[in-house]
Amino acid sequence: MNVVEANGARIPLVGLGTWDLRGRTCARLVEQALRLGYRHIDTAEMYDNEREVGEGLRASGLKRADVFVTTKVWPSHFAPRELERAAKDSLVRLRLSEVDLLLLHWPNPQIPLAETLGALCKVKAMGLARHIGVSNFTVAMMEEAVGLASEPLVCNQVELHVFLDQSKVIAACRRHGIAVVAYAPIARGGVKGNATLTRIGKAHDKSPAQVSLRYLAQQQIAVIPRTSRVERLSENLAIFDFALSPDEMSEVAALAHRRGRIVDYAYSGPPKWD
Ligand SMILES: NC(=O)c1ccc[n+]([C@@H]2O[C@H](COP(=O)([O-])OP(=O)(O)OC[C@H]3O[C@@H](n4cnc5c(N)ncnc54)[C@H](OP(=O)(O)O)[C@@H]3O)[C@@H](O)[C@H]2O)c1
Repeated sequence: MNVVEANGARIPLVGLGTWDLRGRTCARLVEQALRLGYRHIDTAEMYDNEREVGEGLRASGLKRADVFVTTKVWPSHFAPRELERAAKDSLVRLRLSEVDLLLLHWPNPQIPLAETLGALCKVKAMGLARHIGVSNFTVAMMEEAVGLASEPLVCNQVELHVFLDQSKVIAACRRHGIAVVAYAPIARGGVKGNATLTRIGKAHDKSPAQVSLRYLAQQQIAVIPRTSRVERLSENLAIFDFALSPDEMSEVAALAHRRGRIVDYAYSGPPKWD
C-alpha cells in the first residue's frame, strides 16, 4: 500500500476528506470510497459527521484494522479534562474504541500548549488514539509542541496544494520525522482549469486534479481530497500509476504564489472559538 511512515505511524497517502459532507451522502461516500480502495478517512468533531463516517465504515464491511481513521479536537475543548471528554465523545459518535490519529484541529493560544499536549498524550496512553498530532501549526508552534510532548507527534495537517508554498513547514516536519498531511489538496477545485496542470495531465492521460495530487504524493505528502461525487472518488485515488518527471515537478512547484492561501485565517490570528 502507498503509505507515509512517520514516528511509528503508517498513514495511507490518499485519504477521503469529509468536511462539509453530511447525513446519508457522507455515509454513502465513505462506504463507496472504502469499497473503491481508500483506506484513510479524515473527519473532525467540528464537521458534525462522525456518526455518518462510522456508519460508512461499518457498511463497507472492511476490518477495522484495515482503515486509518483520523479525527480532530476543536480548540474550545483544549483544557485537559475537556480534551479527554471530547476524544471520548468522538469515539462514541464513530462507534470505535480508538482512532488511528487524533489531532489538535487549530492552535489555541488561550490555553497553555503544555496542558493541552499533556492531555493529548494521556488520551493516547489510555488507548483512545493510536497516534497523535497537530493541525494548522506554524513551524514555531510545531517546534514548541515537539519539545513539550511526551509521546511522538506523527502529523501536522496543513493547507497545501500547488498554489501554496509550504516548504518551511514541510522541512520542519521532516526534521522531526512528522508526516505532512495536505488539506485542500486540490485547492477546493481551483486546480481544474489551470493550463500547466492540464498540459502535464494530457501527457499522462490524467486530469489536473490527479496531477496536483500526484505532485504531493510523489513527495511523500499525504493528501485528503474531498468530493461529494462518487465518480470523482476513483479519479482522486488513481495517482499511483504514473510519475511526474523532475522537470514536470519543477513546473508544478512554480505555480505557488504569495496569495495562494485559501484558508487564510490560519496564521493571521485565532478565530473566536466559542
Ligand atoms: N485541518 C483543517 O483545519 C482542515 C481545513 C480544511 C479541510 N480539511 C480536511 O481536508 C479535506 C479536503 O479539503 P477541502 O475539502 O477543503 O478541499 P479540496 O479537497 O481541495 O477540494 C474539494 C472541492 O474540490 C472538488 N473536487 C473534488 N475532486 C475533484 C476533481 N477530481 N476535479 C475537480 N474538482 C474536484 C469538490 O467538488 P465535488 O464535491 O463537486 O466533487 C469540492 O468542491 C476536507 O474535506 C477536510 O477533511 C482540514
